[in-house]
Amino acid sequence: KEASDYFMLTDGFVKSELKKREKFAHKGTHGRALVMAGSYGKMGAAVLCAKAALRTGVGLLTMNIPRCGYNIMQSVVPEAMVLPDEGDHFLTSYGDVSKFDALGIGPGIGQEQETVYSLMQVVQAFGKPLVIDADGLNIIAQHREILEVLPSKTILTPHPKEFERLAGKWSDDFERLEKLVAFASENDVIVVLKGAHTSIALPTGEVYFNSSGNPGMASGGTGDVLTGMITSLLAQGYLPEYAAKVGVYLHGVAGDLAAEVTGQIGMIASDLIDFIPDAYQNIR
Ligand code: APR
Ligand code: MG
Repeated sequence: KEASDYFMLTDGFVKSELKKREKFAHKGTHGRALVMAGSYGKMGAAVLCAKAALRTGVGLLTMNIPRCGYNIMQSVVPEAMVLPDEGDHFLTSYGDVSKFDALGIGPGIGQEQETVYSLMQVVQAFGKPLVIDADGLNIIAQHREILEVLPSKTILTPHPKEFERLAGKWSDDFERLEKLVAFASENDVIVVLKGAHTSIALPTGEVYFNSSGNPGMASGGTGDVLTGMITSLLAQGYLPEYAAKVGVYLHGVAGDLAAEVTGQIGMIASDLIDFIPDAYQNIR
């Protein structure tokens, strides 16, 4: 592939892509997002995702979670509405997704059979680009027929292990990049391959390398935060490739600002969320 296909995500690019807020904005202006996340013992992933989506500026957020998370979510994230699943410990079905502008699914959902079936159905019912992360990706790796029905430009956000389950093993970074570009174009999806230098592959073959972020972010939950951020940007009207690029860059800037205060060792995913507003200010 010619060198022209590879780009760096920089402040300048993101600054030009950030949407401004209009004076007469109302909740509806900034979109409606639905997140399907959480299971018994992994409700924290849903909470982190919810807080991140709100801090990234979505107008209205609904969390579709198993009943075990109902009280947790309503008390910890009062800004989010909750659509409780009939299931107690894991998602067993999905709701009416037609009125949502964006959907994010995966953080902490587990791989129970009813959850697998719900994911298979909801990606088709939604029919627009959505964000799939964590166990949502592990489910696809086990049921590859789902790749056939993913809406064009759906955003997948695997870390290396999750990507290996989807695309097979690689022996070096060059082969990994080849697999990344091939997987994105063959499946008409956007792949955000997370790591020290997150790379974003578009179905067109273009790859964007992130320049923000630090090792302090290698801490459980920071991936759930990114899922919430990208879902939030999609709901606010960013095209999928911009939601992925702006989300990845903003996530890294928030991580860099957090590290200045907490240090890299002490940083936890919640700190990253707290610095999303500063990250926006920093880029403007
Ligand atoms: N430098 C910069 N950013 C980093 C670095 C690094 N050295 N290491 C990780 N990150 C960022 C990644 O780019 C990504 O955005 O931290 C985030 C980690 O995301 P995940 O790997 O999805 O981690 P997360 O899911 O939040 O939690 C960890 O949960 O999903 C399971 O099994 C998974 O062990 C993982 C665990
Ligand atoms: Mg993860």
